[in-house]
Amino acid sequence: MKRIFLLSAAAIVSAALSAQTVAKMSDMKPETKAMAVSLKLTGELTTEGNSDYRQLRDLCFQLRDLDLSDANSTGLPKNAFHSRHQLERIKLPKILKTIESQAFFACDKLQEITIPASVTSIGEAAFSGCKGLESIVIEGTPVLGEYAFARLEGLKTVKVNSKVPPRADVSTFYGINRSQVKLIVPKGAEAAYKKAPGWSRFFAEPKTAKEVSDPSMCLAPYPMEMNVMKGAKGMDVQTAWNIVAAEGLQNEQNQARRMLTERIGNIVNSRQRGIVLNLSLDQTLTDNEAYTLAVNAKGVTIKGKTAQGVFWGLMTLDQILRGSGNKECVDIIPQLTIKDAPRTHVRELMVDPARTFIPFDDLKAFIPEMARYKLNALHLHLVDDQAWRIEIKKYPQLTELASSRWGQDDMLAPYKGYYTQEQMRELVKYAATYHVEIVPEIEMPGHEVAAISVFPELTCHQRQVPVRTTCGVSNELLCPGNDFTYEFLGNVFKEITDIFPSKYIHLGGDEAGNPALDCWTDCPKCKALKRKLGIPSTDRSENWKLQGYLFDRIIELLRDTYHKTPMFWYESDFKEIQPGCVTFAWRSGQTKEALDAAVRNNARIMLCPGEHCYFDYPMAKGDMPEVNWGMPVTSLKDAYALDPAWGMGAEFEKNNLFGVAGTLWSECINTPERISYQAYPRAIALAEVGWSTANVRSWEGFVKRLKPTMKDMMRRGVTASLEY
Ligand code: ACM
Ligand code: ZN
Repeated sequence: MKRIFLLSAAAIVSAALSAQTVAKMSDMKPETKAMAVSLKLTGELTTEGNSDYRQLRDLCFQLRDLDLSDANSTGLPKNAFHSRHQLERIKLPKILKTIESQAFFACDKLQEITIPASVTSIGEAAFSGCKGLESIVIEGTPVLGEYAFARLEGLKTVKVNSKVPPRADVSTFYGINRSQVKLIVPKGAEAAYKKAPGWSRFFAEPKTAKEVSDPSMCLAPYPMEMNVMKGAKGMDVQTAWNIVAAEGLQNEQNQARRMLTERIGNIVNSRQRGIVLNLSLDQTLTDNEAYTLAVNAKGVTIKGKTAQGVFWGLMTLDQILRGSGNKECVDIIPQLTIKDAPRTHVRELMVDPARTFIPFDDLKAFIPEMARYKLNALHLHLVDDQAWRIEIKKYPQLTELASSRWGQDDMLAPYKGYYTQEQMRELVKYAATYHVEIVPEIEMPGHEVAAISVFPELTCHQRQVPVRTTCGVSNELLCPGNDFTYEFLGNVFKEITDIFPSKYIHLGGDEAGNPALDCWTDCPKCKALKRKLGIPSTDRSENWKLQGYLFDRIIELLRDTYHKTPMFWYESDFKEIQPGCVTFAWRSGQTKEALDAAVRNNARIMLCPGEHCYFDYPMAKGDMPEVNWGMPVTSLKDAYALDPAWGMGAEFEKNNLFGVAGTLWSECINTPERISYQAYPRAIALAEVGWSTANVRSWEGFVKRLKPTMKDMMRRGVTASLEY
C-alpha cells in the first residue's frame, strides 16, 4: 500500500488551478485525489464503505471547491464532510433529498450554501460549527434538525424561498448573532417566521419555560447515594452566587466561577443577596475522590476529602444545572443531598498523537470535556512506528526527522507536528486544574520505527528504515543486545520523567513484531546476550527472556532512580509481571488470561479490553471510520457492558483492579474533531462503569440520562457519534 510519489512543480500547479471533472472517485488516481483542490463529480455517488463521499472527505485533504450539482446523488451521508477544514465552496446535487447528521460539522471555511428545492431533511448538527458560513439559501421546505445550523458565528444572511417556514427545531439556529444576521423571506411571510419554532430566534431570544432540574434524569456517572427532597421548595439558580472556598481550594473556587459563568452567564458575588456555594474539605470522608453535595433553599455545599473530591462535586453540580440540556441552565434545582465516591480510582482515556498529530490546543481542549464525566487520566501515546512526537533535548533529530511524514494507509496527506517540552509542562499544569493526570507512553521494544529511522544503531541489523506510513505491526525492534539501546532509553526517560510528574509511565510492550521478537533470533548481539544470560539461543520462545531482561533494566531504572510505577500492555507471553508494575488487559478475547496473570503476579491491572474499550473502532456498522483495517464494531452498549472486575470478585477488585481505560488509536482518525466523535458517548459509558457501582446503574437508565448530556454536547459544539 505504501506509495511514494513525486509530482513536478508544473503538475502541482496545474492540479491546483484547474477544476477536474470526473464521474466518480474511482476515475481518479490516488495522487490526483491528494492534489485535488477543485473538483466536479457527475456520476452516481456511493455512500457506503469506501464510498465516493468517504474518499472526498478523507483522500482529498486539500479540496476547496466541490461541484456536485450534476452528480447523481440523493443523499449526503452522515459525517460526509465532517471536520474538512479546507472546504470553501460546495454546490449540492440538484436532485439531493437528504443531508444527514453532522454532514458538514466544523467545515469552518465553508462560505455559503444553497440547499436545493429537492431537499426534504437536514440532519442534526449538519452544519454546526461552520464558523465561516456567511450565507444560507434554502430553496425548498426541508425539515431542519436539532442544531443543524448551530454556532455559525460568521452568518450574515439566511434566505428562505418558502412562504411557509420550513419545520425547524428551537435549537436549529442556536447561537446566531441577531444583530449581524438578516433573515430574508418572501413578502408577507415575516409574521409566520416570527411565530415559527426555530425561526423566531431571528427576531428575539426564544422564551423558554421554567425548568426544574431532575437530577435522577441527568447525572452520568450516577452517584452512589442521592436523596431528592420532593415537595421542598427548590433553589432559584438565576441569581447572584457567592462562592466561599476554604483554604487550599483556590483552584476549585476559580473552576466554580468558570462553570457558573458558562451555565448562568455573568455571575456576581454579592454579599447582600443571592445564594452561597460553599466549598470545603471534610476529612471524615474515606476516599480521596469522595465528596458530598447538599442543596437547600440558601445555597449549595460541597465537601470533599481532597480538592479533587470538591472538584468532582462541582462537576456533579454542573450536570444538575444543565438539567435536560435544552438550555444552558435550568431555573430551579431541587433540595437534595448526594454522597459519592468512585468505584475505581483511575478512569483514563488514551490518545494517539503519533499516528495522527493532535495540535496542542486541541489536545488541551480534550481535558475539560473528560473532567465533566470524572475521567481523571489522559494517557499520551507519544511515539510509534509512524512518528516521534515529543521533543527530547538530547536527541533533537527525533523530532526534526521523525515527526513528519506523508501518508497513512490510503490517506496521502501530510502528518506532521510534535510537542515541545514546554507545551507538555503547560498541559500537565492545565490538566491538574481539572484534576486530570497526564500519563506519558514511550514504546519499547516494538512500535519504535520512528526512533529507529533516526538511529539505525538501535536495531539488530543497524540499517536505516523509513517511518511507517501504514497501520499494522512492524518487525523492526530495538536490539536488547546493544548498549546504545539502554543509553538511548535512559536519556529519553531522564527527560520524560522530568517533564511529566505523574507517578506512572507507560512502556508499551505490545505487538513487538510478527512473529513476536523474531528479529532477535539471528542477531549476533542478541545471541551473545543470550549466552551471557544462560539462555539457549536455538529456541525462539527464549526471545521472551530477552524481552524480560530489557524490561527489567528499564523498570529498575524508572523505579529506583525516578520513583515511577511502570506500566505496559500485557502480552500473554510475558507470563511474569515485574513487582509493582501495572499491566493493561487490552486484547479482545484474552482478558481472563491477563487478569489471571495479574492475580498470579500480585500485580495491578487496567481494564481496557478491545471488545468494550477500543473507541477507535466504529460504534455501529457504517459509522466512522468507514474504512479501517477490519475493526469490529464496539457499540455504546458494548462499552457500557464492561464489568471492571470481570466477574473476578471483591478480592480481585480490592487487590488487583487499577482502573478502566478507553483507547483512541489514530490510524483511522484524521482530524482532532474526529477523536471527540470516536470518544463520545462511549467515554461517558466508560466513566460510569468506572465510577458507579453496579447497584446504582443500568443500561436503560444510562441511555435516558445520556440524552441531556448529548444535547448539551451538541449545544456546546462538541461532536459525538449519534449511532446508538
Ligand atoms: C494495542 O492496541 N496495540 C495495545
Ligand atoms: Zn539484536
